Amino acid sequence: MGDNITQVQKESIFQWIEAGATEKDFSKVDGIFRDNCALCHSPESGMSLPPLTGYDEVAAFTGVDMGQSVKTLVRVSHVHLFGMSFIFFLTGGIFSLSAIDARWRILLIVTPFIAIWVDIGSWWFTKLRPVFAYTVILGGVFMGLALLAQIIISLGEMWLWGRNDSK
Ligand code: HEC
Repeated sequence: MGDNITQVQKESIFQWIEAGATEKDFSKVDGIFRDNCALCHSPESGMSLPPLTGYDEVAAFTGVDMGQSVKTLVRVSHVHLFGMSFIFFLTGGIFSLSAIDARWRILLIVTPFIAIWVDIGSWWFTKLRPVFAYTVILGGVFMGLALLAQIIISLGEMWLWGRNDSK
């Protein structure tokens, strides 16, 4: 539907919605809907689409999707922080016995604990600024890679190439 109007007109509509989509300011965007949308979105068109010829009809579509509710975020954050940290303790505990350089061991054991806060913390910050959606991914990637390294090295030393205790 957005293809029916120009970028400038789109910006005007976004500004109107962000300012609260009030009836008072509807005159700023009224014309855009009348000129570009009512052709199809009106009872006269006979297309049985939701009409967009007045404030009430347009306002029915101006709700902004703010993502998950705080209640859901609290529940899911809680489960993930505790559940996954527990897994990190177990994998980290096993991995701490690895024979690889101690600095690498510390880095790989600590990373998932930090990354999970970046990941889950960003769920919350995304509510304030959408750009934090990217740090959710970044945290998840670091968490996954560090965990993968812990598991592969631990299993490898146990079953494949053995411990190299020279270091
Ligand atoms: C050429 C005819 C045409 C024009 C012009 C048009 N629409 Fe539509 N619109 C449709 C059709 C057909 C559908 C239903 C099918 C679909 O969703 O693609 C639709 C669906 C919609 C929906 C979803 C309705 C629902 O019940 O979920 C919205 C919102 C919408 N249009 C808004 C607009 C806006 C805003 C404009 C003007 C910028 C516009 N449309 C211009 C034909 C049109």
